[in-house]
Amino acid sequence: MTGRLEGKVALVIGAARGIGKGVAKRFAEEGAKLVLADADTKYGPATADELGAVFVRIDISRMEDAETAVAVALEHHGRLDIMVQNAGIYPWQLIENTTSEDWDRVMGVNLRGSFNAARAALAPMKRQRSGRMLFTSSITGPHVTSPGHGHYSATKAGINGFIRAAALEFSGYGVTVNGVEPGNILTEGVQEQRDAAFIRSMEDAIPLGRLGTPQDVANAFLFLASEEASYITGTTIIVDGGQLLPEGADFRILPP
Ligand SMILES: NC(=O)c1ccc[n+]([C@@H]2O[C@H](COP(=O)([O-])OP(=O)(O)OC[C@H]3O[C@@H](n4cnc5c(N)ncnc54)[C@H](O)[C@@H]3O)[C@@H](O)[C@H]2O)c1
Repeated sequence: MTGRLEGKVALVIGAARGIGKGVAKRFAEEGAKLVLADADTKYGPATADELGAVFVRIDISRMEDAETAVAVALEHHGRLDIMVQNAGIYPWQLIENTTSEDWDRVMGVNLRGSFNAARAALAPMKRQRSGRMLFTSSITGPHVTSPGHGHYSATKAGINGFIRAAALEFSGYGVTVNGVEPGNILTEGVQEQRDAAFIRSMEDAIPLGRLGTPQDVANAFLFLASEEASYITGTTIIVDGGQLLPEGADFRILPP
């Protein structure tokens, strides 16, 4: 299907690569006019060129940078219909080795970054009396976790709480707020941090038998950004290949 976002202006934050790039690509295929914001200048401008988008370099942990990203969207396209805050970091670090600075850095990008993005996008959406705010949460934090993800889990559980609070506060302005909770998605970020053995162990843990792709996640974002989701607010969609389902490790054994 094409044209589901025809005429819509979308700002995707954390879009240089990985899930964010997948979201931007899917939105472009559906006719959205795009602004991509990212801290990365190695891949960011090339991704924007590939998708016919405007690129702006920002650090989403800074409020003024979130405001700059929104200002660029308004300058180029005159409005803002969809804001996706996908930028996130997931350094592997046990709690006992995490310093206050490490903690603040993960909070700053993932959680304060989500607040910054919402705060900055609200002004034009409030004026328009319409808008979609979308966030990348995770199954890690809200539902499950693993060693080395204390700060990360706290941010993603926090994002879900923030989604509900913002959805309620912004409902009177016609602005909906939702999120996607990906499971294990094969992205550049995951490949940098995890070896082939980890990826195989994940495949074994996922009922659908494979890690997800950025496009799998992007399809859920597209639905939430589209007209079909106009009555949905304050919730999240899990995209995890069934990873949350098993009660135990024997889930592939079928009854006789
Ligand atoms: N890959 C997974 O398995 C998975 C699972 C659940 C949730 N997530 C979430 O999805 C999002 C994307 O993950 P990914 O695997 O594609 O990661 P990635 O590292 O491949 O991409 C993340 C992007 O965010 C950008 N970014 C990082 N810090 C930033 C900052 N301060 N300001 C602006 N941009 C910044 C990076 O430059 C990069 O382009 C993250 O929020 C992550 O927590 C990923």
